[in-house]
Amino acid sequence: MSTLRFPQGFRWGTATSSFQIEGGADERGDSIWDEFCRVPGAIADGSDGRVAVDHYHRYPQDVELMASMGLDTYRFSVSWPRVLNPDGSVNRVGMGFYDALVDTLCAAGIRPWLTLYHWDLPAWLSGGWTNRATADAFADYAMRVHDALGDRVRVWTTLNEPWCASFLSYAGGHHAPGHTDPAEAYAAAHHLLLGHGLAVKALRAADPEATLGLTLNFTPAYPADPDSAADVDVVRRVDGTAHRIFTDPVFRGEYPADVIADAGAAWPSGLVHDGDLELIGAPIDVLGVNYYTSQLFHAGQPAPQPTPHPAATDAVAVDRPELSRTDMGWEVTPDAFRDLLIGLHRDYTGPAGIPLAITENGAAIDDPDPASGPIDDTERIDYLVGHLSAVHQAIEAGAQVDTYLVWSLIDNFEWAFGYTKRFGLVAVDEALNRVPKASARWYSELVRTGTLTLPERA
Ligand code: FCB
Repeated sequence: MSTLRFPQGFRWGTATSSFQIEGGADERGDSIWDEFCRVPGAIADGSDGRVAVDHYHRYPQDVELMASMGLDTYRFSVSWPRVLNPDGSVNRVGMGFYDALVDTLCAAGIRPWLTLYHWDLPAWLSGGWTNRATADAFADYAMRVHDALGDRVRVWTTLNEPWCASFLSYAGGHHAPGHTDPAEAYAAAHHLLLGHGLAVKALRAADPEATLGLTLNFTPAYPADPDSAADVDVVRRVDGTAHRIFTDPVFRGEYPADVIADAGAAWPSGLVHDGDLELIGAPIDVLGVNYYTSQLFHAGQPAPQPTPHPAATDAVAVDRPELSRTDMGWEVTPDAFRDLLIGLHRDYTGPAGIPLAITENGAAIDDPDPASGPIDDTERIDYLVGHLSAVHQAIEAGAQVDTYLVWSLIDNFEWAFGYTKRFGLVAVDEALNRVPKASARWYSELVRTGTLTLPERA
């Protein structure tokens, strides 16, 4: 039987986000996701986040679950409209929830990893991320959270997946606020990055020892025909707005010239002010990587419908029928994960001397209902084994990766898919009881030994 040993000190855990698990909606303000859930047809099963999996009331049990699995790290996000009131003052009850959560984690020996923004923007911030003032508001919010929790929380992620919060939300229309205007998406992307830069500056000044970073989602794009100049070019444009519009300002202090040129008239004039790129490019301490799949594209006809790839309306995704897929329909491509990590280390984080942390990786599987007996989610375990061996290969090839967090601890509200997609190591029954799956036991054993066992090759 072959095994792979992870380095000494490698850190293991799980990730969640506030809107997807907390519920407790009567005790917080509305976010743009509460509003989006009210739009008929926006959420596949017509559901919302008002109760979610009731983590707001059941967090002691969820922390206990993680402790029993021997997890080292828990990445969660703070709900901005829970901890701040519309006038900017602190909501003591809301902040008290996170204060208690962090205390409970620390008492259980679990390192809290706090994400400040996982998409639940307060509904009252006019213009959302298209408004430059939202970036300033974000930095103020970051400091209010730090004032309350900074003595115990030592790792801070400013933003989760700004691509989703900009292009998918303001150009593709798939996520809140559901707009379909490319110019809004470029503005949102810049203001998110600016918010990141302003928050890093403020947090750094207040707490020089804290570990600060942001999390980007990567879906590596490949040309269907590598010999076709048109396919190669469409992939360059997809990659430009999906990845390089974020990595380049953060690590190189500049927007890629081709991305701005491809945006054309959709790039709002006067968007970038003097000093913005200096703020955005200030050093960080860790890059969070979220990875699920990769995609193949060929250049087709420009499509009229809204797209989250506004500079590549001619991009046509090409299926690879030989690959297996998760319940999201996402192709399972662990080799692309390995190559991504090696490439990020080589091109961005390695030269800056900073580590990569896998802040999300996991699989939606159509698990049976927990009422029908123990959930033997071998497909999820297979996915995780494949992707963890990709991480191991990347480390062997020299990429500096020091953390792996499974998405997700528990089945939850999967955004526009509602509760129809299950990513958890732990299921939730009708009565909201927690029911660990086989993958939870498997992961716990991996965390205990630091050793991945690979299936025998046929
Ligand atoms: C990521 C999100 C996370 C979850 C997973 C499946 O894009 O950060 O909240 O929805 O996808």
